[in-house]
Order: sequence, then C-alpha cells, then structure tokens
Amino acid sequence: MFFGGKGGVGKTTIANATALKLSAHASTLVVSTDPAHNVGHLWNMQVGDTPTTVRPGVDVLELDPARATNEHLKQAGDTMRRMMPEHLHKEVNKHLNLAKHSPGTHEAALLERIAILLEEYGESYDHIIFDTAPSGHTARLMALPELMSAWTDGLLERRAKSEKFSELVRGMSPTGKDTTVTTAIDPVDRRNQELRSILLKRRHRFERLRAVLNDATACTFNIVLTAERLPVLETDEFHAELTANGVHVGALIVNRRSPADQGEFLASRRHYEDEALADLHRRLPDLPVVQIPLRAHDVGSPQALEDIATYL
Ligand SMILES: Nc1ncnc2c1ncn2[C@@H]1O[C@H](COP(=O)(O)OP(=O)(O)OP(=O)(O)O)[C@@H](O)[C@H]1O
Ligand SMILES: [Mg+2]
Repeated sequence: MFFGGKGGVGKTTIANATALKLSAHASTLVVSTDPAHNVGHLWNMQVGDTPTTVRPGVDVLELDPARATNEHLKQAGDTMRRMMPEHLHKEVNKHLNLAKHSPGTHEAALLERIAILLEEYGESYDHIIFDTAPSGHTARLMALPELMSAWTDGLLERRAKSEKFSELVRGMSPTGKDTTVTTAIDPVDRRNQELRSILLKRRHRFERLRAVLNDATACTFNIVLTAERLPVLETDEFHAELTANGVHVGALIVNRRSPADQGEFLASRRHYEDEALADLHRRLPDLPVVQIPLRAHDVGSPQALEDIATYL
C-alpha cells in the first residue's frame, strides 16, 4: 500500500495511522522512503534501516537513502570492474563517484531497495505500507521498473552481440580445431556468463516489482490531499500518471477538513473546500473519498494517531 501526495498534506501521519488501524487484526511494516525522515519522532522512538516494533502489529523502518545509493553503486561497480580490464578500473571508480550525484541514481537505488524489501519482508507481514516523498518524485519511481528493465535488456543485447563477435573471430582463427577446447575454459566466456546472470537477476527483480505494482489485488496507491483547488488539479494529474503506469489508485484521502461549526472563518473555508471536493468528484467520480478533520493540535504523537485512525 502506497501513500503519496503533495508535501506536508499528511502522508506520514495517515500511513502510520493506517498501520495502527490494521494492527487490530494484521501485522504491518511501515516503510518511510522520504529522505527527510520523521517516523521516529512520530513514535518517539529511535528508528533505523531495519524494522523496529513500535506497537504490537506495527513495525516501522526508515530507508537510508545514502546507504541504498552506496549499495546500489557498489553492486554496479563490482559488475563494471569485472567487465573492464584492470587498467580501466580507476576510470570506473571515477565514473561511479560522479554517478553518486547524478539525477536518477537516487531513484534507481531507492527502487532497488523497495524491490529487495518486498523480497525480504513480503512474507513476514500481512501488509507493507510505503510512506513516500512528495508526488512528482513518486510518479517517476512508478515508471522506473520499465526503464530499469529496458536498460538491463540493452546491456544483455550488447553482451550477446559481442559474444557472437568473439565467436566469429575465434572461428576465423587458423587453429579452429583448438577453439572448442579453449571455449570451455575461456575466462572471458566465464566472465560473460557471470555478467549475464547478474544482469538477469536484476532484471527479474524489477520484473517482479513491476508485477506487484501492477497487480490491483496486491498493491494500491492512496493519494493524500487537502480540499483546495490546486491540490485537486494535481491529484487528478497524479492519478492519471499512476494509472498510465498500471498502478491501481485505491482511495483519495482528504485531510484537514475544516469544521463548519467553529466560527465564520472556518465555515467559509469549509464552503470553499466543499467546492473543491465537488470538483474532485467530477474529475474522479469512481474513487472512494475518505475525509479526516483538521485537528486543533499537531497530530505527531501515538495518541493523536489513534484518533486519526478512527476516521480511516
Ligand atoms: N488532520 C490533521 N490535523 C492537524 N494537523 C495535522 C493533520 N494531519 C497532519 N497534521 C500535521 O501536519 C504536519 C504534516 O503532516 P505529515 O508529516 O503527516 O505530512 P507529510 O505529507 O508526510 O509531509 P512531507 O511531505 O513533508 O513528508 C504534521 O505536523 C502533522 O502533525
Ligand atoms: Mg512525510
């Protein structure tokens, strides 16, 4: 289950309140993929890169983006160094250092980590909830498995071509008879096979993730928003993007609804919100809408989460 939406709308609050609600009859792992972590503060507990139990039935984990990127690049580096002759290893390292800061690397690393988490914990919990970073980012993340598979396919195709080429060259050698013997133990061939198996493993990982993301019975995406004109327009676009990537949107969660009976100021806001919600309904008539009232106090505590959970 994914929770996404604009910055500050209440994704973290609602993701954790949902886990609390589910804990009555199911176990849940809440994963924060937002680099600006605050799940630990929410539960008043030290939380890290492995699951921490914050309530019976609720475990939380904060993905460490720097660690995810380093691990991702280390793997890529190992693969590249194996591909390249020794004297180019320095170049490889230089390239990887640059990659660490280039756009896309962080997303790819995050996605690989999500895929690994599903492999590691998919069987141990009834639900895994992803509390994601603000929208644009997440929509790109959903498109990524396709890109990553295409990239791996491209590499595999190149390998196949160069292997074919080497075979051809060997076939042309005058000592053609010896070739078969050499091939069986040829370290180059062995290396090629190793690389192929690494790339294929990676491709399967992304394919499995894609299959989960596109299976409406296994995965839903909930969009969190406030009842205002611009967030409604953005939600409509976000929904279209997710749907285009084959991701099923389960519900729209409208947070911070103003009360109608607490003075003129809030009543006027409420009226304005009702109009925005009517527009939301016109745009996305088939989606269930859950509404959560604006609270007088901050809701960043376990007790406040219990209260929010009653609206879910
Ligand atoms: N219904 C509510 N009533 C009052 N305060 C709320 C409500 N929902 C959330 N908040 C408060 O709004 C702030 C932002 O909420 P939260 O951190 O859940 O948003 P977010 O979407 O995860 O933000 P970010 O995009 O930065 O990750 C928090 O201080 C939270 O306590
Ligand atoms: Mg958050």
